[in-house]
Amino acid sequence: MSLLELNNIKKTYLLGNSVFGKRNSVEAIKDISLTLEQGVCLGIVGESGSGKSTLGKIILGLEKPDQGEVLFQGKHLHSLKAKELRELRRNLQVVFQDCYSSVNPRLTIGEIIAEPLRNYERLTSSEEQKQVQGLLEVVGLRREDIHKYPSQFSGGQLQRINIARAIALKPKLIILDEAISALDALVQIQILNLLAQLKEDFQLSYLFISHDIQAVNYIADQIAVMYQGEVVEWQDDMEKLEQLEHPVSKKLISSVLPSYPVYF
Ligand SMILES: Nc1ncnc2c1ncn2[C@@H]1O[C@H](COP(=O)(O)OP(=O)(O)OP(=O)(O)O)[C@@H](O)[C@H]1O
Ligand SMILES: [Mg+2]
Repeated sequence: MSLLELNNIKKTYLLGNSVFGKRNSVEAIKDISLTLEQGVCLGIVGESGSGKSTLGKIILGLEKPDQGEVLFQGKHLHSLKAKELRELRRNLQVVFQDCYSSVNPRLTIGEIIAEPLRNYERLTSSEEQKQVQGLLEVVGLRREDIHKYPSQFSGGQLQRINIARAIALKPKLIILDEAISALDALVQIQILNLLAQLKEDFQLSYLFISHDIQAVNYIADQIAVMYQGEVVEWQDDMEKLEQLEHPVSKKLISSVLPSYPVYF
């Protein structure tokens, strides 16, 4: 059984009202099927608007597909009862691009990281403090940071805090939607190293969504290229990244490898 299985997912957004009775629509996801195994990082690349975030939201249960099914740990995500979905969701976490809006500025770092623990586990305050301090160390921050507020941290440090919160419940899959895109180059590499280490240590699976094929090349085991709501190309062997053939893949590769020929 695969950790995640998507079968023929479709999602169309209707846009506003038309005076002529026909509403405009965007086919954000046209017909996507894929599988992801435990411990694997799947990189999803594609231009802006190709449907990457929509796909992530469907897997997280934040959007309902019009058609198709999402199986997570063998269970149909979109037909579960609230209680079952809640149990499943603890194994499915997310880190978004905007590290600032992902944290409540009025809460301490300790409260922010403890949020999922408070939702799912009944810990005493000393147990909780111990766990949060342990998580801070795992993501490369200091135990004393537990009492600080988000405004006292840099973007890179805040993203480490978001990662600490995402791994607090030892999930199976983390969706990283442009999670490093807003950071400067050096910090991006540091966070990528941290993610690679965590993947190894906790046998995590990632869905690493990015427009940056270089970052995907660094961390992913497999790559899917999206274009206009479809997966147009898939490669299981990252050594063969430069053999991708679709024009969009070539364009993404040429943006980081200037010598790479572009045919369109
Ligand atoms: N809630 C929504 N309502 C209407 N249209 C939407 C909605 N969310 C996404 N779309 C449209 O669906 C398409 C796919 O959007 P999506 O956000 O998934 O793209 P993306 O690949 O994540 O792009 P980016 O790289 O810019 O984040 C786009 O045309 C977008 O405008
Ligand atoms: Mg997006």
